[in-house]
Amino acid sequence: MSESDKETIAILGGTGDLGTGLAIRWSKAGYKIVIGSRTLEKAQTAVAALQEISPETPAEAMENLDASGAGDIVVLTVPAEHQISTLDYVKANLTGKILIDVTVPLVPPKVGTVQLPPEGSAGKRAQEFLGEDVMVVTAYQNIAAHLLQQDVTIECDVLVCGNKKAAREKVIQLTKEAGMNGWHAGPVANSAAAEALTSILIQINRGGILSHSGIKIIGQEH
Ligand SMILES: NC(=O)c1ccc[n+]([C@@H]2O[C@H](COP(=O)([O-])OP(=O)(O)OC[C@H]3O[C@@H](n4cnc5c(N)ncnc54)[C@H](OP(=O)(O)O)[C@@H]3O)[C@@H](O)[C@H]2O)c1
Repeated sequence: MSESDKETIAILGGTGDLGTGLAIRWSKAGYKIVIGSRTLEKAQTAVAALQEISPETPAEAMENLDASGAGDIVVLTVPAEHQISTLDYVKANLTGKILIDVTVPLVPPKVGTVQLPPEGSAGKRAQEFLGEDVMVVTAYQNIAAHLLQQDVTIECDVLVCGNKKAAREKVIQLTKEAGMNGWHAGPVANSAAAEALTSILIQINRGGILSHSGIKIIGQEH
């Protein structure tokens, strides 16, 4: 735990679009951020940019393996084709931790067509690869990086999937602190629905009526 009693969040591939957006949101909420990268120099550049936006909260640059060790909570934000190789590299440092996985397994060029992997979803693939000693929680597949990086209200809700309720609860809290509404969406197998929705939102955006389309859960309060 950091001195502020808030967890340290390590973002692997945190130099990229989505990682940058999450880093900004959580840093502004007071979480110490570790930006992980395959190269320390790239992480250092990203941290310098983050500190300009959020100078009050400490942030550190590390190579991915060190970052995975330094984070109380680890977030994976790398392209789908490098999901498992990156997890394989850092696996030993993830035992007992929450791993937030944002992976959307889009298959170019047909990114507007749902093409989930044989395992059923990228989230389930990560959980099966890591084993039950790592609490994989999937989230943010339907949130545009561009919006996370800006100081705007995000209307799109977040479906939070994972096999452990307490781990989902933690991610729902982090989601709220990042300015979004998260919902318990069941076990990690259900991540298939959130991942598939991204292709549908891409199709809606292509329709020319909306940009940055998203979803909102509605219902009557108990
Ligand atoms: N972009 C979005 O709006 C969005 C929305 C929802 C979900 N997602 C998901 O978020 C994840 C990241 O998306 P993104 O748009 O942020 O991706 P990105 O910017 O293209 O890449 C993110 C980072 O991945 C690392 N990376 C690239 N090639 C790699 C490799 N061979 N091995 C390990 N790491 C590698 C790079 O970091 P280093 O070079 O510093 O190592 C890069 O900065 C994806 O799974 C995507 O499906 C994205």
